[in-house]
Amino acid sequence: MAALFTPLVLIFATNANPSQFCPASCLCYDSSNLVECRGLELPIVPHHLPHSTWMLDLRHNNLSRLEPASFQALWSLRILLLSDNQIEIVLARSFRSLGFLERLDLSNNYLTSLPNDFSRGLGSLRELRVPSNRLTALSYESLRHMESLEKLDLSRNYLSSIEQGAFRGLSRLRHLHLQSNLLDSVRGGYFFMLQNLELLDLSDNNVSSIAVESFTSLHSLRLLSLSDNQLSHLKFKTFLNLQTPSTHIQVSGNPWICDCDLQRVFGKITSVRHLHIDDYDNLTCAGPPQLSGAALISVDNQLCVAETATVLVITITVLVTVIAAIVMAERNRKKNQEKNWNEPDGPFETQDK
Ligand SMILES: *[C@@H]1O[C@H](CO)[C@@H](O)[C@H](O)[C@H]1NC(C)=O
Ligand SMILES: *[C@@H]1O[C@H](CO)[C@@H](O)[C@H](O)[C@H]1NC(C)=O
Ligand SMILES: *[C@@H]1O[C@H](CO)[C@@H](O)[C@H](O)[C@H]1NC(C)=O
Repeated sequence: MAALFTPLVLIFATNANPSQFCPASCLCYDSSNLVECRGLELPIVPHHLPHSTWMLDLRHNNLSRLEPASFQALWSLRILLLSDNQIEIVLARSFRSLGFLERLDLSNNYLTSLPNDFSRGLGSLRELRVPSNRLTALSYESLRHMESLEKLDLSRNYLSSIEQGAFRGLSRLRHLHLQSNLLDSVRGGYFFMLQNLELLDLSDNNVSSIAVESFTSLHSLRLLSLSDNQLSHLKFKTFLNLQTPSTHIQVSGNPWICDCDLQRVFGKITSVRHLHIDDYDNLTCAGPPQLSGAALISVDNQLCVAETATVLVITITVLVTVIAAIVMAERNRKKNQEKNWNEPDGPFETQDK
């Protein structure tokens, strides 16, 4: 009887004083429910962490994989910091206990993809940081359950493809960081349904084309950065589709082909009251060869001169022709009238003379 009883007492004691399981070398602050295990070269997540843990700091360790047992029963966890580890693998259902987690930081790890049900259980997550990993592609399935997400940072990865509608489950998303990746185009379905998105950073990619309808549903967008890409031309309609109160656009660091078309597109964009090109003064031309390296602002009022001159010449030619035709017609009419006046009306007069 006694042998059976002892373990029960121990379990009871565990629940009464969870902090007794503070893992070796970690610091546990009972008052704030913070468990700090920073910079300890830990190869795995310590087991039996206090159930009341609110914030778990595992930055700068040697974690290489996350699995369902890693964060079991940490139902109170709000903040989980896993940056600067060597995490390569996140097994399915690793985060399923973390229904109240609000912030997850996975910066500076070795993730090559987010598994399909990565987001299962993360319905309260407001901020997800996965910059400086090795992600190459992104799918809807891995992001779909994060309906509370407001900030998503996927910068400094190797993303070259994004599934159409990958972000469509993220209806609350406000900030999306995709800078410093390998995207070569912006397709129509990428940012579909992101009505609350305020910041979209696509700078430092390899974008050379943007589908005209790409930004259509972004009604709250305030800042769109397209700087440091491979854009040489733009279509006005792409930006006309941005129906927002006010949007700042950054486009410097692109190899612009400075021709009359480009000048017209920028002219039209700046004439739309809610659109602002922040760095127009900083745009440089990569072509045509005679303008390579020139600042767009120093040549922009000459770009359409040749075209305007041609149009002018044609207009004048047409005008002169028309005027000449009218004058000729008028002269002929007058001549005919005079002829009629001078000419006798009928055979009788002639006979009178
Ligand atoms: C942890 O990682 C560092 C840096 O990669 C390495 O030097 C160290 O030996 C690793 N420690 C353990 C215990 O694996
Ligand atoms: C960027 O795109 C160009 C074609 O536009 C391609 O030749 C080049 O390899 C791409 N660079 C990278 C780093 O993907
Ligand atoms: C223009 O370029 C200069 C020098 O590269 C930089 O200091 C400045 O912040 C840029 N201005 C804008 C509006 O981007």
